[in-house]
Order: sequence, then C-alpha cells, then structure tokens
Amino acid sequence: DKANYRHFMAKEIHEQPEVVGQTLARYVDVAAERIALPFKLPFDFNEIQRISITACGTASYAGYVGKYWLEQLARVPVELDVASEFRYREAPLRKGDLAIFISQSGETADTLAALRYAKAQGVHTVSVVNVPTSTIARESETVLQTLAGPEIGVASTKAFTCQLMVLASLAVAAGKSRGELSDQDETRLAHSLVEIPRLMAAALATELQIEKLAREIAKSRDVLYLGRGTSFPLALEGALKLKEISYIHAEAYAAGELKHGPIALIDESMPVVVIAPYDRVFEKTVSNMQEVAARGGNLILLTDAEGAAEATVDSLVTIVLPDMAAIFAPMVYAIPVQLLAYHTAVVMGTDVDQPRNLAKSVTVE
Ligand code: M6R
Repeated sequence: DKANYRHFMAKEIHEQPEVVGQTLARYVDVAAERIALPFKLPFDFNEIQRISITACGTASYAGYVGKYWLEQLARVPVELDVASEFRYREAPLRKGDLAIFISQSGETADTLAALRYAKAQGVHTVSVVNVPTSTIARESETVLQTLAGPEIGVASTKAFTCQLMVLASLAVAAGKSRGELSDQDETRLAHSLVEIPRLMAAALATELQIEKLAREIAKSRDVLYLGRGTSFPLALEGALKLKEISYIHAEAYAAGELKHGPIALIDESMPVVVIAPYDRVFEKTVSNMQEVAARGGNLILLTDAEGAAEATVDSLVTIVLPDMAAIFAPMVYAIPVQLLAYHTAVVMGTDVDQPRNLAKSVTVE
C-alpha cells in the first residue's frame, strides 16, 4: 500500500534511507566500520583481470557508477554494457574472470541472456538482484541481494540506490583483497558508507525546493543533464527518470562533452541540470557551467555548501546537499534527481506509477 503517499514512487523515494540502511547492514559491519560480505566469494579478486558489468536501464547506470568505483578502489579494468548489446556482440571473456549482472526484477530477458552467455564462457557470475527467487538469481553463481523490498513504481528508485550500496561495498572489498586499500582506507570508506542513510534522509529535505523548481521544468520541452565522474551516470539516470514519467525529452552528457555538440542546443528555454558535488573535477564542471550561462541557459546546480560557495556562475536554482565523501555522492544525489522527475510528472499530470508504454519488468527482448 502507498501508506500516506500519493504514489508508490513517492513512497519508494522516501523509503530509501531505510532500505539502503538495510542493504548496508548486509554488506558492512556497521559497528566495526569494516566491509563484511555475508559469505565468502567463490573467487579471488587477485585472479580477476577484468570485470564486465551488464544490465538494462537504471540498473545499467548503477553499473556505470560501479565501474568508476571498482576501477578507482580496486584498480581492476571494468567494461560496462547494456545487456541487449552485450548478448549479441560476442564479447571475448577470459575464463575465470568476473561478470556482474544487475537487475531489480531478476527477470529482464536481455540481462538473463547475457548471464547465460557469460556462464557458457566460463566466467564467474555475480548478480545484484532485488528478487532472490528470480531467474537471474537462480542461475547466477553468486547473488548479492539488494534489500530494497518490493518496488512497485515502474520508475526504479530505491532499487537503484540499493544497487549502488552493494556495488560500493563490493568495490571496497575488491580493493582490500587486491591490496589497493589499507585497513585504514577500508575503515574510512566503510565509515563513509555507514553515513549514507543519514545523508539520504537529509537530502530528502530538498523536496519543497524541488517541488517549486518542478513547476518551471514542467514548462520545458527539453532538459539537459550534465555531470563528470560518477555524476555522469547519475546524469544519465536523471534524464531517463524525467523522460519516462514526465514525457519531457531529456538527455545527459558527460560535462566535458558539452563543447563537442550539445552546446548547440543551449538557449534561454533550456534548463541544464548540473550534478556537481565539490570533488576533484568540480572546477572543470564549473567551466562547463560558464559556457552554458554565457549562452543564456538556465542552470540548476546540485552541489554541497562548498560547491555552492565556489561556483562562480549564476544559477536559476542551487540545491545544496549535505557534505559527504564525494566518492559515494551518487547515492545521496540520486534523491533530488528522482524528486525532480517525480514532481515534474505530478505537475504534468501523468500516470507516475504506470507511465505509458512501459512495463515494470521487460521479459521479452
Ligand atoms: O528489473 P531490471 O532492473 O532488470 O530492469 C531494468 C530496466 O528495465 C529498468 O531499470 C527500467 O529502465 C526502469 N523503468 C527505469 O526506471
């Protein structure tokens, strides 16, 4: 049931601090601030030369963030594909390497076919699924369950942030096994993960501001989302979310790509949502914002207090998120991104939980 919410999607957005906290507790020893996977993995991360991550839609964007984390924390090369491409491109996989599949439902046809392909190549398979009885879960060597609980809204929200929590924990575990992270690093990173549910709850406090902003966004024909680093896949997720429930056309680009084409679109009628926690690429993103501002684009900046103080560009709206370890920002910044899509859809009067033409689980290709 929807509790006191108007839509399942709203309920599911608000549930995130709790369910991400439950997922955290499955993979992290919260008291000791150490990664503690619930069982021993059937492979050694030191033997893995390459990881492939495969998923569809929102789950693929979680995978994209996971790629950045695994590469940064465990120094292992990661390839990311959408399942519909992976299953037919005959990717050469090395026996004994690792393939990760991400799926809320565990029934997505393309992801399942990709899993079967990978198994036939003799790689280890890990699936990050929300439904433990699903086909993908049953057919994978290892299941890392997300504890999001049933997700009813067609637009994925809480499954996404729980997938991120699992991938973050796995990336720290991999970094530790491979000797890339010290005990101290592990504690520092685990501590940052433990903070996430509280930070997500704080991020929900931006809702009123976002509701107001949504009335402006609802007037737009197109919206552009920009981000660098892990904020880039989150930009992709923001654009997908807005498209699927408000039917407003949205696109996402890595901020550095702006000059390579999309800048031609910028004018006064184009809102540009910039996702930019104050991290090591922040200054680079600010220069992209200046390019947008110079062409009359309306900037909506999602950042933290330091970013808001340092951004030397006028934005239409700045949404200030709590200070946090920038590496895990996508879990917290997902909240305003989801809320913006949700409230825009509510203004547009669309069927938020059952958007046209979409199914919750895509079991045919
Ligand atoms: O159940 P899955 O996670 O495998 O589903 C994958 C996609 O179909 C799903 O994420 C889809 O993109 C959602 N509608 C996004 O909100």
